[in-house]
Amino acid sequence: MNLIISFFFIINLFFGICRAETNKFFEIDKKKFIAVKIKKDLQGNIERGKKIFISRKVNCLSCHEAPIIEEKFQGNFGPPLGGIGSRYNKDELRLRVIDSKSVNPNSIMPSYFKKIKFERTPREFLNRTILSAQEVEDLVEYLYSLK
Ligand code: HEC
Repeated sequence: MNLIISFFFIINLFFGICRAETNKFFEIDKKKFIAVKIKKDLQGNIERGKKIFISRKVNCLSCHEAPIIEEKFQGNFGPPLGGIGSRYNKDELRLRVIDSKSVNPNSIMPSYFKKIKFERTPREFLNRTILSAQEVEDLVEYLYSLK
């Protein structure tokens, strides 16, 4: 009996490792360039997303223009995001927020939902993501509303 249980445990572990690009919130498909939400009760909110978008924490506006007239300082390292919601669906937008480098490995855009584990990452940031899954979803809703 114990042997059977251990067997299933090992199989489970094996598949867990194979599907490394899945976490409990999102599933990344690197061929289709999409990230699908798997935690269905996670719902984004446009207003919250806009607040995150203009916040200094993520600094989207230091590289992108967006149709927010009250924000005077907007960057042009990245493409303007006006109308982005008509060019991409939510799964495509989600991947760009989670990990833009999986679309373009040389991208200067930070990966906002990838665990930080560089050699010299300070301990308090190690294995943490810049944004929470909820914040990613809020941003996706906001970006998708830019038609
Ligand atoms: C350091 C600069 C930088 C920051 C900060 C940044 N981006 Fe980007 N972003 C880019 C660049 C450059 C691209 C173009 C794709 C590439 O990397 O080659 C891009 C691409 C994108 C795209 C795809 C646009 C398209 O037309 O294909 C989206 C969506 C996007 N960024 C959203 C965001 C959001 C949301 C934030 C903040 C949470 C953000 N970016 C922060 C530089 C940045």
